[in-house]
Amino acid sequence: MILNKVYLESFGCQMNAFDSEVLESLLEEDGFSITQDPSDANAIIVITCSVRENAERRAIGRLNDLSRHKGAILAVCGCMAQRLGEKLFDLVPALEIVAGPDSYSMLPSTISKAIAGEDRKILVETDSSVTYRLRKVTGSSPSRYLSITRGCENYCSYCIVPFVRGSVRSKEAGAVIEDLRILAASGAKEITLLGQNVMAYQSGDCGFVELLYRILEETDIYRIRFLTTHPRDVNEGIFKLMAENGRICPHIHLPFQSGSDRILSAMNRGYTRSEYLDIISMARELRPDIAFTTDIIVGFPGENDADFEETLDIVEKVRFDSAFTFKYSPREGTRAAELDNHVPAEVKKSRLEALNNTIQSIRKEIMTECIGSIEEILLDARVKKGENHFLKGRTPHFRNVLLGTDNGNPGDIFSVVLKELRNFTFIGEEITGR
Ligand code: 5AD
Ligand code: SF4
Repeated sequence: MILNKVYLESFGCQMNAFDSEVLESLLEEDGFSITQDPSDANAIIVITCSVRENAERRAIGRLNDLSRHKGAILAVCGCMAQRLGEKLFDLVPALEIVAGPDSYSMLPSTISKAIAGEDRKILVETDSSVTYRLRKVTGSSPSRYLSITRGCENYCSYCIVPFVRGSVRSKEAGAVIEDLRILAASGAKEITLLGQNVMAYQSGDCGFVELLYRILEETDIYRIRFLTTHPRDVNEGIFKLMAENGRICPHIHLPFQSGSDRILSAMNRGYTRSEYLDIISMARELRPDIAFTTDIIVGFPGENDADFEETLDIVEKVRFDSAFTFKYSPREGTRAAELDNHVPAEVKKSRLEALNNTIQSIRKEIMTECIGSIEEILLDARVKKGENHFLKGRTPHFRNVLLGTDNGNPGDIFSVVLKELRNFTFIGEEITGR
């Protein structure tokens, strides 16, 4: 029997990276094989992002580029598929299938029918019961993702996600544990639990912190991380757990978006700058070395110089390990897109530069202070730079370390001393391996 081959590309966030593993497992179960070469594929799938306009522009460019593989069925999945639906057939004439994030279970059979000659198909029904179980695991990296919640109902005024990812649903706790065991059996040592709002997890009377206790007790996953959180859902419990159990990594990604109360209110974020800073203090009281990362938007409609200064002030007060920073991008259908006072492009650009400079210099200071310390790293990959071979790993705080040796394997845990800093990556030296 000749197997149909699928080539898959994923853009955007970690949820899309996880969804591509889900899709691979669904396709393999249905008799497809995965190829790394689009010219060898019977079907090409692109998983897309809608969060900013340039993410969509890039995805459409890539889809048109992949259209040259005339023998393959071209399918688009993810947030942009959900948002633009039928319009995508005009934007990408070679497109045959459009499938939103809740309809991946139907994708393998839809692709088979398209290969057999069936017409263009659009699958964008939303279904708030969909959480996707893992059945056949395709990856083998020691560091993996598992989605535990999907969707978002926060309706931040700038954000398209609630419109494309639908309402919040949580994977049943027993199913989370089973999926984790499947991942552990395929070599996972570190899992990042994913959700648009991971701390909004609720399955029966099991909330996020209770779920973590169950995971600690019922699996042997060595390191547990989670992503992403909303300050509104954060409570003491999570930091207490980080303080008492080393398997919960001492790092939290906690987007604050803006340091100005006026802008936070216009963004419908549901907290003030002082409430955000209170969370940081509470966390540091319980676990002083915790690493914070964040997301920040500059140039939200009506943001003036004083508002922006307040954003810089939060950055200086909290001292983030790193941050994702974005220029506000209007998304059709969101409340912010209707606002007046849009900030000129050149102002957004100069604020972004100033913000990034501040973040980078603090980042360098934080990392320089770590030189000489001993850290446990989980090796996740081999890398080659020029003629030199390295092993790459991360500390519990999510800091990158390179070891100048190839005497070790992804999945190994090494104690290393951090010797020096090169481009925001530590160069480490092994003390002991096991
Ligand atoms: N414009 C710019 N950045 C945005 N984000 C979400 N929506 C927009 C938008 N319309 C950013 C937020 C969010 C991250 C994933 O993307 O900072 O936390
Ligand atoms: Fe992009 Fe957000 Fe969708 Fe992820 S959830 S793919 S970041 S729009």
